[in-house]
Amino acid sequence: MATIERKNIVITGGSRGIGYEAARLFVEQGHRVWVLSRSEVGYSGIRWIGCDLSDHASVESAAMIIRSEVERVDILLHNSGYLVNSPFDSITPEQLVASYGVNVFGPFWLTQHLLPVLRGAHVVGISSMGGISGTSKFPGLAAYSSSKGAIIPLFELLQEELGASHVLSFNILALGAVQTEMLSAAFPGYQAPLSAFEMGKYVVDFCLNGHKYFKGKVLPVSVSTP
Ligand SMILES: NC(=O)c1ccc[n+]([C@@H]2O[C@H](COP(=O)([O-])OP(=O)(O)OC[C@H]3O[C@@H](n4cnc5c(N)ncnc54)[C@H](OP(=O)(O)O)[C@@H]3O)[C@@H](O)[C@H]2O)c1
Repeated sequence: MATIERKNIVITGGSRGIGYEAARLFVEQGHRVWVLSRSEVGYSGIRWIGCDLSDHASVESAAMIIRSEVERVDILLHNSGYLVNSPFDSITPEQLVASYGVNVFGPFWLTQHLLPVLRGAHVVGISSMGGISGTSKFPGLAAYSSSKGAIIPLFELLQEELGASHVLSFNILALGAVQTEMLSAAFPGYQAPLSAFEMGKYVVDFCLNGHKYFKGKVLPVSVSTP
């Protein structure tokens, strides 16, 4: 059997859904995996760090723990997502702050605090088809889709600012519908064409190899609307 190069991989939101499947697959392939989420992850081989991505102090402390445990992170997968499904006129300040906190500020601060150990890394953001300009939009998702959109120019900018100096690749996967708890909350009753396992497998492969083909790019990964 061919031996693989063991990578150090940090994943946010690996407690369920796509992130959990991706984290499990990375572990099964022999990589070292740190998962940041609020709920504990008990899967053998995953190093879970409790973290609320919408809280700067929590993100900074999680990053410091990782930096004390490893000299280099090869893959940083910003997978955590926070859905608000609510009519525009009912969205509360708490919902808007939580949405941007998890979907935009969390990836911003985590990347900044891990920067000293990110040299040569592939930084992958998980956005949504609704975050891309010109795609189908759905009522109720103003906070969610706009925050998912905000991370796209952020990653393009980071590719310009840090790509050469820190040897980094920043790419975004903008996902279509995947059968998870979040999808059921966004589109009750809708059956997605892909399972969390199927998308997790694609995300894992992209994290390991996508930087050879893409830098500073956003890729639509979708076979359906939504
Ligand atoms: N499913 C889809 O159809 C779809 C479509 C487009 C994009 N996406 C994106 O794909 C990614 C994965 O979504 P999913 O469908 O797998 O969702 P999911 O099953 O609902 O999982 C969401 C993950 O995000 C984490 N998270 C939420 N709030 C957090 C917080 N404050 N701090 C840290 N982590 C937090 C959760 O962990 P804790 O609750 O334990 O903290 C959980 O592990 C998300 O970025 C989502 O926006 C999904």
